[in-house]
Amino acid sequence: MNSPVRTDPLPGDPPLLMPGAPYSVVVLLRGYAEPEKLGGAVRADGSVSLVLPQDWDPASNSTPVPQAEPQSVEAETALQEAARGPILVDTGGPWASEALLRALAGQGVAPGDVRLVVGTHGHSDHIGNLGLFPGAALLVSHDLCLPGGRYLPHALSEERPLRLGAGLEVWATPGHGGQRDVSVAVAGTALGTVVVAGDVFERHGDEESWQALSEDPAAQERSRRRVLAAADVVVPGHGAPFRVIREAPQPGSPGVGEK
Ligand SMILES: [Fe+2]
Repeated sequence: MNSPVRTDPLPGDPPLLMPGAPYSVVVLLRGYAEPEKLGGAVRADGSVSLVLPQDWDPASNSTPVPQAEPQSVEAETALQEAARGPILVDTGGPWASEALLRALAGQGVAPGDVRLVVGTHGHSDHIGNLGLFPGAALLVSHDLCLPGGRYLPHALSEERPLRLGAGLEVWATPGHGGQRDVSVAVAGTALGTVVVAGDVFERHGDEESWQALSEDPAAQERSRRRVLAAADVVVPGHGAPFRVIREAPQPGSPGVGEK
């Protein structure tokens, strides 16, 4: 891939706060993936991010996410209602549940405050703690269910994102785990548009390695290009978030994508 952009990892340890309006993004836990010396095993956990509405007040978080009623509730309406409170993007693996709870508490968020959990894809290091959030709506890959287990149809596709709020969208970004992976895009932070991309990007600098872990490399290549075209910061599934820097072409030099 002839990358049209440069990327730089963001320094510092979690939590990494990217304040914004109407939504801030906090990277709570930084995922990792470390090959073991023998046998081909990998020790890994996924990154966990929190999207916080600017006007969310923990004291006002008393309105529960709708459960089975009314019958007419539509997916996007339910998601927009849920997005008025804290949103978790991925949960890490079950072995890290205590770390997740501590990181949430550090942001003043109790598990019961979380109104929506988005699981970017169905791998255990990304959705291993869904059980901590029985009161939240769950959007795991393309499966959307409200508390109590009511699954709602919706029209998410690569051409049609789900709009949760101003500048807050869920994108269909297939490839790594199959056809139903998703990413969360948050515009308007201090660092620009943040895309929490799950394993669309395994880590910063994964250009030579992501294909080996991909169910559909052609689709994932498409998803990666889409994310890089829009994001100012990418939160990958594992490792440090990274900035996306678009450099203006010099006069006489090849244009974007040309060589
Ligand atoms: Fe994965």
